[in-house]
Amino acid sequence: MDGKETPLQVLIAGCGYVGTALGLELAAQGDTVWGLRRNAGKLPSPIRPVAADLLADRLEDVLPQVDRVVYAAAADGPREDAYRRAYVEGPGRLLAALTARGDPVERFIFVSSTAVYGDAGGGWVDEATPCIPENFRGSRVLEGEEAVLASSIPGLVLRLGGIYGPGRTRLLDRVREGKARCPGDGPIWSNRIHREDCAGALAHLLRLQEPHPVYLGVDDAPTPLCQVYRELAAMLDAPEPQVDPASTRDRSNKRCSNRRLRESGYHFRFPTFREGYRALVESGA
Ligand SMILES: NC(=O)c1ccc[n+]([C@@H]2O[C@H](COP(=O)([O-])OP(=O)(O)OC[C@H]3O[C@@H](n4cnc5c(N)ncnc54)[C@H](OP(=O)(O)O)[C@@H]3O)[C@@H](O)[C@H]2O)c1
Repeated sequence: MDGKETPLQVLIAGCGYVGTALGLELAAQGDTVWGLRRNAGKLPSPIRPVAADLLADRLEDVLPQVDRVVYAAAADGPREDAYRRAYVEGPGRLLAALTARGDPVERFIFVSSTAVYGDAGGGWVDEATPCIPENFRGSRVLEGEEAVLASSIPGLVLRLGGIYGPGRTRLLDRVREGKARCPGDGPIWSNRIHREDCAGALAHLLRLQEPHPVYLGVDDAPTPLCQVYRELAAMLDAPEPQVDPASTRDRSNKRCSNRRLRESGYHFRFPTFREGYRALVESGA
């Protein structure tokens, strides 16, 4: 904050991996931050804990009065009912509780996913591309988006790509263990974003004047997954990934554009997976 901006009162609902990074960043710049989750004892200071289940009765009784909300809860498991709870019922209940109280919430950001797009045959997608989810995961997340954007509280959606960062090193681990596999029939594009850029982009969007309703949150460089593996293998001095045609199954293939987010003034801390993973490797991850 440059000293001229008014501090915000922010509730982060579903304050986990991304939410905690965002909360710490906002608090460091002078905002007041509440983190809502069931296991609120896990939240670091100065995030103010709100121990609650988003699906519990009388949610309105435990909510702090805030002017901004970020909804970043994730599904508890891979089944459709878990997705419905996290992405449809959770935001629905929270919006209803905020509306019932008449709180003057000026922005409700829904953390969404690029899964809403489904397969684009390796082509580019952006915020104007129609969403045709391939499976219930994308469908339930899209349903949540629609509810947020239809609410009387001003809503905004950030569709994140694959998140990586400290403690989320699945690709590095796969390469290190010799388990990385390349598809055999053409490139499958990987769209990634470092946790610090998830937090940075959300902090930026919380204050952005006259935002669009939807932004894509991915870095500058959609890259074929096999190329990501190869570069990580070189970085780690690990074996080259092997080709396995079966590894293409269930992967939607698209290149996500971050142009709208960049043109809104956001500067990526890790513009590509190269800088992001290099920093992780150098930090001992
Ligand atoms: N991981 C990815 O690559 C990826 C990609 C695209 C989009 N996203 C989206 O990004 C968002 C943030 O992801 P993340 O990695 O930060 O998730 P995360 O670490 O799993 O955090 C989500 C938090 O939500 C809380 N939560 C879940 N259900 C709740 C409920 N009923 N009531 C209260 N709190 C609840 C959980 O805490 P408690 O268990 O303590 O309640 C958890 O800490 C999610 O919407 C996710 O779908 C993720």
